[in-house]
Formats: sequence, C-alpha cells, structure tokens
Amino acid sequence: MRGSHLPFLLLVTVTVFSVITHASHNEIRRRRSIELSSAQKLITDNRLPTDIEPLSYILDLRPDFESSTFSGRIRINLTWKAESKIIELHSHYDLQIDETNVQVRLLGADDLSKGKLVDIRRTDRLPKRPVFQVYLKEPLKNGTKCELEINFNGHIWEHAEGLFKGSYTNENGAKVTYLATQNRPNYARKLFPCFDEPAFKVPYTVSISRPSNYTTIFHSTILSTEKLENKTGYVVDHFKTTEPLSTFAFGFIISQLTKVNATPTDLLKPKINIWARKDLHGDLADVYEKVSITLKSIQNYWNIDFPLSEVNLVAAPGLSTVKPIDNFGLILFKESDLVNQGYYLIAQELVYQWLGTWITPYWWTDAHVNKAIAGFLAASTANEIDNGKEFDGKWPMTVLYSIYYEFSKRYPHSRITAMKQETTCSKTELVLRMLNYTLGADTFKNGLRKLFKKEECKDLFITDDVWKYLTQQAHADKSLPEDVTVNEIATSWITKDRLPVVSVERDYAAKTAVVSQRVYLRERPHDVPEQDKMLWWIPLILITQDNLSFNNFKPYLWMKKTRDIILTNLPADDKFVIVNPEEIGPFPVNYDTKNWNLLASYLQTEEGRKQIPTYTRAKLLHDAWNLAYAGDLSFATAFNMTLFMKFERDHLVWNPVFTFIDHIGRHIDMSNVHKKFEIYVRILLTPLYEELGPVPQEHEEKWKDNLRSLAKTFLCRAGYKPCIEEAQIAYHKWMDSENPNEGNPVSNQFICPVFKWGTLEEWEFGLQRVINFPPSRKQSERTYLLKTLAGCPISKGKIERLLNITILQQNGNFTENDLFLIFSMLSGGSSGYTTLFNFLQQNWDQIKRNFKEKTNLWDNLISSATGVFTTQEGYDMVSNLYAKHQGEFGSADHIIEKSLKNIKEETKWSDANLPVIENWLNDYLKTVDVKDQKFL
Ligand SMILES: *[C@@H]1O[C@H](CO)[C@@H](O)[C@H](O)[C@H]1NC(C)=O
Ligand SMILES: *[C@@H]1O[C@H](CO)[C@@H](O)[C@H](O)[C@H]1NC(C)=O
Ligand SMILES: *[C@@H]1O[C@H](CO)[C@@H](O)[C@H](O)[C@H]1NC(C)=O
Ligand SMILES: *[C@@H]1O[C@H](CO)[C@@H](O)[C@H](O)[C@H]1NC(C)=O
Ligand SMILES: *[C@@H]1O[C@H](CO)[C@@H](O)[C@H](O)[C@H]1NC(C)=O
Ligand SMILES: *[C@@H]1O[C@H](CO)[C@@H](O)[C@H](O)[C@H]1NC(C)=O
Repeated sequence: MRGSHLPFLLLVTVTVFSVITHASHNEIRRRRSIELSSAQKLITDNRLPTDIEPLSYILDLRPDFESSTFSGRIRINLTWKAESKIIELHSHYDLQIDETNVQVRLLGADDLSKGKLVDIRRTDRLPKRPVFQVYLKEPLKNGTKCELEINFNGHIWEHAEGLFKGSYTNENGAKVTYLATQNRPNYARKLFPCFDEPAFKVPYTVSISRPSNYTTIFHSTILSTEKLENKTGYVVDHFKTTEPLSTFAFGFIISQLTKVNATPTDLLKPKINIWARKDLHGDLADVYEKVSITLKSIQNYWNIDFPLSEVNLVAAPGLSTVKPIDNFGLILFKESDLVNQGYYLIAQELVYQWLGTWITPYWWTDAHVNKAIAGFLAASTANEIDNGKEFDGKWPMTVLYSIYYEFSKRYPHSRITAMKQETTCSKTELVLRMLNYTLGADTFKNGLRKLFKKEECKDLFITDDVWKYLTQQAHADKSLPEDVTVNEIATSWITKDRLPVVSVERDYAAKTAVVSQRVYLRERPHDVPEQDKMLWWIPLILITQDNLSFNNFKPYLWMKKTRDIILTNLPADDKFVIVNPEEIGPFPVNYDTKNWNLLASYLQTEEGRKQIPTYTRAKLLHDAWNLAYAGDLSFATAFNMTLFMKFERDHLVWNPVFTFIDHIGRHIDMSNVHKKFEIYVRILLTPLYEELGPVPQEHEEKWKDNLRSLAKTFLCRAGYKPCIEEAQIAYHKWMDSENPNEGNPVSNQFICPVFKWGTLEEWEFGLQRVINFPPSRKQSERTYLLKTLAGCPISKGKIERLLNITILQQNGNFTENDLFLIFSMLSGGSSGYTTLFNFLQQNWDQIKRNFKEKTNLWDNLISSATGVFTTQEGYDMVSNLYAKHQGEFGSADHIIEKSLKNIKEETKWSDANLPVIENWLNDYLKTVDVKDQKFL
C-alpha cells in the first residue's frame, strides 16, 4: 500500500528505533547465510563432462606459514565412462600448475600395460573458466582406468576461501597464526586441481606438512609423522584414507589450538573433541554436554549412527565466515557461536553432518531442500532439548510473519534480492513443518530416514527423493490419500513467490461453508498478473467450538489445487470454527463476520483464552489485522478481535501487535482518528506494562524484558507521563554535564521521547551536540542523534528550525548525506512530511536556488515532501503545489506525478477505512472510563 516509498524495515527502525530490530536480531543473524546465494550463482557454473570420473585422490600438501604459499602434488585415479581423449577438471586461476610435469599412467589389469605412461598432446587452461584440460594423443576406451598426476603451487589467503590464514593472541600475549580451509561451495579448486562438484564422492589419502609445534586436525587419524629433510622445524603427517567425501566437505586446520578438557558424557560414539585457544577453555566447558545431547537426539532421529569415529568442533579465533565451516567430521565455528549459545546452531551443523556431508545433495539446486531440512530439524531439536527457551518460543512465528509480509507485497523481494534465497528457504522450512504435522511426525521421520537406506547412488540424493520417500511412507501409513503425492503438494508451495489466503464463508442454516483459496496480497493495488492461475495444495485442518481439541492435525481434507470446496456438517450457528490452527500451513485465513465475532467474544472469556492455544490466538489476531489492512475485512471486525488483548499476557500473542499498531498508526497519522487510536493503544498497553513493572526483575525470562521495552516504547510514543519524566531526568544528566560534547551518558531509549514530548530547549541542546560533534567520536552516535532530532518531534517549530538551519542557512556542519537522512526521517510521520511540505511551499524560490546543482537532493526532497500523504486533503495540497509551480520541478517532475498517483491509492484506502475505524473507536471509547491523567 505504501508504494515503494517506505520499506517495512525502515518503518520499524524509524519509529521504534532499535527496539523491534533488536528483539529479533538473534534470529535474523542465525538465519542469514550466503550459502544459497552462492549456490544460485553456481547453478550456472561449468559442469564437468561425465565421460571421465574420479575414483580416489592421493594428495600431498606442503603449506608454508612464512611465505603464505603452498605446494602440492595430487594423484587422481580416473575411470573412463565413455571413449574420450580430453581429461577436464577444475582448477582455480590462482592455482599454478606445473604443466610440463603432468603425467597420465595406465592402471591396466595386466602387468604389461600397468604403469605405462599415456602420451599427452598438450595441456590447457580455459580462458575465463576455472578448468584445466589434458589432451591425450589417442582417445582411451570406455572402461579404461588411469592415474593422473599434477604438481601445483598456490596462495594462502587472508579471507576464508580455499586455504586461509587466521591469527590471534595467545595466553602469553604472543601473536599466533593458524591455517584452515573453507571449500564450500566450490573453493577446493583453489587448493588442488579436482572434480569440484558435490556428486563426486571418493576417498582421499592425504599427507600435510606443518611446523612441528602445531597440530593438524583432519577427517581421519594420523598413521605416521616424519621430519621434513629440507625444511627445518617442519614435519609431515600421513593420514589414514578417508571415507568418500565431496570436495566441499574436505578440510583441515593446522593450529596451536588445544583440546578443551572433556567432561564425561554418556555418549560412546562418536568421540567429541572441542578445540580452542587456552583462554577460552573455561568458557567452553559446557559445550561437550551440549554437543553430546544434541548428537544423541539427532542420532535417534535418523536412527543410524554417525559413520565417523570422531567429531571435531573448533572455536576458530577471528573466523569471519557468516556460517560455520562444515567439513565432514570437522566443524569450524566462530568463537562467539560456541560460547554461551544455545543448541540451534550446533544442531544445524550436526544435522548437516548426516544430511549434507555424509548423504549429499546431488547438485546445488538440491542443497536448497537440504538446508531447509537442516533448519527445520535443528529448530525442532533445539526446541525439544530446552523447551523452546532459545527462541523464546518464537520459532517459527518470527520467520512466518516476515514471510507473510514479503510474499504479499506487490513485488516480493524487489528491494533486497539477496534475501530472496533466504526467504525461499524459510518458506520451505515452513512447508516441511506443515508436512510434519499433516503426515504425522512419525511418518515424516520414517520417510526422511529412507534417504539413508537408498539402494541406488547410496550417498547422494536429489530433491525428488525427499518427496518420493515421504509419499511412500505416507501411503504405507495411510496418512495421505493414495492419489496424492507429497511432490505435488510441496511443489505447489515451493515454486511460487506467493502464498495463498483461504476464506471460509459459512452458511449457518445449512451448516456448510464455502472454502476458497486465492493469492494473498496485502499491499495494494492488488494488480498482480496471472493471479487466477495460482493454486495450492492446502491442508484444511478444522477445529470447531464443540470439539476443541488441538492435538490432532490430520487434515479434514486437502484442497487439491481447486479454487473452492464445500465443507459440510459444521456446528450450530452459535459455535465458531477455526481453520489452520497453530499456523500448521503458512497461510492466513479469513472468515465471515459472524464467525469472526463468535471468535472475538470467546476470546474475551477466560475459558476462551485458556482453550485456544497461544499460536492460534496470535494467528487469529494477526490474520484479522492484516486482512483488514489488505482491504479484505472490515476494520470494525479486526478491532473486535483485539478486545481480548486487554487480558492477554503472552508475549507471543503480543508480538505481532506492535507491528500493526505501528502500521495503522502511521497510516492514520494525519487524520483526527489518530488521537482516538492512541487512546485505544494506551488502554490496551497500560495494564500490560504496569503488570510487568517498570524495571527488570532478577532472573526474569528474556521475553519479559523485550515485551516491557516494546510496551514502554509504544506507551512513550503515546505520551505516557512516567516514561517521559524518566527520560527527561536521564537526559538532564547530559545537559548538566561539564563537557557535553565529549560523550553522551543518555541511553538511546530515552532520546526519542525527550525530542518528541520535551521542551524546545531540550531539543535545541541535542541539535547543538550534532553541530559541535567532535570528529574523534563515533560517527554512528552523531547519526543516531540526527535521526532522532529529525524523526521524533511532532512540534512544527522544532522541525522548521532544523530545516531553516540546514537548508536555508546551509549550515556547514551538515553534509548532503545528512540532508538525505533528515528527509527520510521526516517522511516517517505526518508532522514531519507536512512541515517539510509547508516549508517547501513557503521557501520555494530560495530552496530551488540552493539546490540548483544538487538534483539528487532536490528529487529526494520532492519525494519526501509529497509522497507520503494518505488523504484527499493531502492530495489537494500536493496537486495545488504542482499546479502553482508547473514546469519548475525539473528532474522531479515525474516524482511528483508518481506521488499524486500513490496518494490517490492511499486516499482510497483512507476513505474506505477511516470512517469505519473512527466509528468503532467512538463506540468503544463511550463504553470505557478513559483514565488520562497519566498521559500528556
Ligand atoms: C590408483 O590405483 C592403484 C591400483 O589400485 C593404486 O596403486 C594407486 O595408489 C591408486 N592411486 C590413487 C591416486 O588412488
Ligand atoms: C561404457 O561401458 C559400460 C559398461 O560396459 C556401459 O554400461 C556403458 O553404456 C558404456 N558407455 C558408453 C558411453 O558406451
Ligand atoms: C623438499 O623435498 C621434497 C621431496 O623430497 C621436494 O618435493 C621439495 O621440492 C623440496 N623442497 C624444497 C624447498 O627444496
Ligand atoms: C614453533 O617452532 C618454530 C620453529 O621451531 C619457532 O620458530 C616458533 O617460535 C614456535 N612457535 C611457537 C608459538 O612456539
Ligand atoms: C463487533 O462486536 C460487537 C459486540 O460484540 C458487535 O455488536 C459488532 O457487530 C461487531 N462489529 C463487527 C463489524 O463485526
Ligand atoms: C525559520 O526561518 C523563517 C524565515 O527566515 C522564520 O520566519 C522562522 O521564524 C524560522 N523558524 C524557526 C522555527 O526558527
């Protein structure tokens, strides 16, 4: 609806500042990964021909710490699958190959041919492709086996690709370096020439040299170690031949890290080793137990033992990769990922050990479902082990809500394309969760277990295998009709960047309902092309008021890509129904008004809030508001659904509320309804906040503090006196300090309330701090201050003063970037953009003169000053300005035209919804005794 003007993230950060973003920061950090985006890139990677395949590698690597280079020799046994005279393999441009000494030897069956050198015509490196080619004089026949030998040299990198170097300060204060590898997804070719595709899984026999006072951790154990004759202080380890490995899962680390003393666990196999620098050992004491509990749980899930005898987990100092480096049996974590963390990340890495490095996706397109399975199982494992504590019970809701927002936009992913892979993966996780519920957890588990018992291509799988095994198991267990396959279901969800919305329209007399599906669109206009063609396989799980049992999630029936379906035998007309409880499927549900009101009334009873579980309460509320926002439900009905929040104390139900208070508040900001809405928000929030108390209690749960600070932020915004007074007291410490330019003693949470509700003098003090900000201090603090100075005030005077100084007087302490920032902050609220608009109108000539050479600033100013109005009044103001200065807008001409178009769309929304909202609020406020003395 807001057009492309104000991305949701900005909305949240602008108004709530860091509070909301901070609350979900952990989840976001955990879920972000570059993996899929690089996989996406890889799909166009050069696939090697399939006529020659590797059988085994013998690799000798000689890294040199001092020169940051390495030399190596690789021998690869190859088998011909078809007649060919060109051997092709991957080798990165950085790798120098000794082309004169490449050898190919026959591995003949008889003694005569054995060891015979094959004539090589030439070797070649392909321009712009990381491929090395060996041309033989004569083609070799299908079935031939040879050993290829290549000598090479390469670089040790500072960033984590291929072989890289890291460093840290040890317990004696000395700087120590270490070497480690990162080969995922395709950096093995930087380390040695190889068949760098996941499906080539063969054993490696490896020797690696190291300084004698270092240790190498590799996939297998050391058979022998010998001194290097020609390099003093260095030795070489010869390792036992490994299990078959993909190149991306091959890795090692050469370091002086030491094993943390093991705490005894009752896990016999595999042996767990944790490695870290000495100083960290104390902090990692509990990791053995965590890993052992997690391993056991995953081992039970797969019902098959880990194939290696050891798992090594390394806390790698200064590691900068987004995700841990997951080699087979050897996982490198950032130190902070192992210290004081929960189970999720460990579980995710361990699930990958089974599905990923042991049983491997055939190609990177299949890695997508692999990642989703790992994410889903890791979250369920972590939740099961610590009872949901790590996620504060929020999984999968946080993910789900952001997916609802993203996929219901006019142009999903249009802003941050890099996030696309990530959202798609999260969606797949939610589809897996849906299958886990609808097929049954045992069926789901037994289906996935079949991946480990494959007959063909034992240690590889493709996405279709996952669906195939789930279907087989579901049919055997009779949890899916014979004519339905999991493939059809999953594909209908995974291949679209959209989600459905389901509507339930009851016929109360006939005890039936028409259930229909269509694409879920929230932002308007809903002009997405081809939406009629989009259909999903949707499980209809039905709960009725006369049978409130929330533990059987077997679908009443599946909507098989049909638009409508009729439900019969529904309960009497005074009993509600709920479809899709507990967010089993990732889709919102709409009902007829009567059913919504039955739900609203029930939730206002104590019994109702007890009977309907948390996620379902949250869903009902979330769906009602967002459907109203989208124009699919009357706001009066949506407001009715919020009445129970006065009694609600569960943070999971409150979570989505803050977002939509923000959305709606912003939308009606300019109208008279806003005041009434704020009163309503106070009525909802005050009892919650007062019950939580103003300060954190000792040993309270994490969610309480988050909920308290969210409630407080919103109350503050609504003028809650105790909060504003507290902020002013804190702020005055700064005003009274001797050298206020030296540093800011005020916690960020207090600044916005002071700038919004405080005096002009307080605000002016802040402005002077920005003007006199010493260059030696952190610039991010200045930015924060400037953002709040512009974004928080509701008084015209403060904003006008800021604009006078920065635009008319062109104060030299403000850069162009500062101006962009100010404009963007002003467009976040009606006082801001209205004042900016009036300022532009009053000072038209001078601003035009000042911005003559600054087209970007001018365009940005026009966009911020005109783009965000939402009412007819705003439309008239903007179009009058446009008419008055026809022909003077220059480069911004199309911008103001676009603004007018947007306002028209927003005005439609306001015209349709504002009267409804106002009526509801009027009626409601008549019934309550509004206690206003605590508010400004
Ligand atoms: C290739 O196979 C031969 C015969 O089995 C063996 O002696 C040699 O070590 C193997 N080389 C590699 C690289 O595995
Ligand atoms: C190579 O030989 C194998 C085994 O005899 C046979 O199955 C395969 O079809 C042959 N490949 C080609 C391309 O002729
Ligand atoms: C050291 O000896 C090995 C094997 O004997 C040889 O391959 C290598 O080139 C030598 N290195 C140096 C630096 O002389
Ligand atoms: C390791 O041994 C090398 C050579 O023997 C020596 O120069 C270096 O100082 C040692 N490093 C540490 C950290 O003990
Ligand atoms: C809201 O709830 C009230 C009281 O239950 C009811 O009278 C009214 O019809 C509802 N409004 C809408 C639009 O659903
Ligand atoms: C801004 O400047 C205008 C014109 O110079 C002046 O009339 C107005 O009072 C100033 N506003 C503030 C808040 O300083």
